Amino acid sequence: MSCFRAENLSLHFGGLKAVDSVSFAVEKGEILSIIGPNGAGKSSIFNLISRLYEPTSGRLYFEDQDITEEPAYGIAKLGIARTFQNIELFENATVLSNLLVGRHRHSTTTLWQELLFLPNVRRDEKAHRRRVEQVIDFLDLAAHRDKLISGLPYGVRKVIELARALCTEPKLILLDEPSSGLNVEETDDMSFWIRDMKTELGITVLMVEHDMTLVNRVSDRVIALNYGKVLAMGTPAEVQAHPDVVAAYLGT
Ligand SMILES: Nc1ncnc2c1ncn2[C@@H]1O[C@H](COP(=O)(O)OP(=O)(O)O)[C@@H](O)[C@H]1O
Ligand SMILES: [Mg+2]
Repeated sequence: MSCFRAENLSLHFGGLKAVDSVSFAVEKGEILSIIGPNGAGKSSIFNLISRLYEPTSGRLYFEDQDITEEPAYGIAKLGIARTFQNIELFENATVLSNLLVGRHRHSTTTLWQELLFLPNVRRDEKAHRRRVEQVIDFLDLAAHRDKLISGLPYGVRKVIELARALCTEPKLILLDEPSSGLNVEETDDMSFWIRDMKTELGITVLMVEHDMTLVNRVSDRVIALNYGKVLAMGTPAEVQAHPDVVAAYLGT
């Protein structure tokens, strides 16, 4: 059973085929990277999976369950989390608050229970905080936990966005350009976090990335896209040596 599968997935904006009949599967426990020039349709695929966009046609499956009609909140509940190409955090809240928000999908209590603060609410709250503290440890964020997001350097915010996604305890994580805006050293760290997510947390990773050093370092397999179509699929070396991929990159 694959972790996630897209079948003949298409997304049209008027006459523009942003995603054009794309099929691929992400196996459980693998790191699969999507590469391709600007405008190739990479972010669109993520937006289709997280249900920000409706596919023009095609189907999406998570653990063999058809999720094409599932609403965005249903996707999160199933265990799919994502980060964004442009960081989306609450700027005027602390790191800890931002991470507690990430726990939302695991809340089983009702509003009334929360208002009355019944025992199961307290249990939930404790479990939330425990998981958040684990993620803070895992990503080495202890020094920042009580700071406001707005005062933190970009590289740290990027890790916090990752942390927030991890707090939902996802089975599948979608990372949109995890290295964008990071310097060489920060990109290095990011590659370790991504590998550790796979090996230590057992999370399946689907990643869009343009930094080929990072792609080569972490990916089990790579998909190259151009103009919404799959050009090549295989190991990082196979895909980068593919003549269509070479041509697509030289042409831009
Ligand atoms: N909301 C939208 N409306 C119209 N066109 C869009 C929209 N989102 C993306 N596109 C277009 O779809 C194509 C693929 O975009 P995108 O998925 O963002 O590419 P990538 O992430 O690979 O750079 C581009 O031509 C882009 O301009
Ligand atoms: Mg993009």
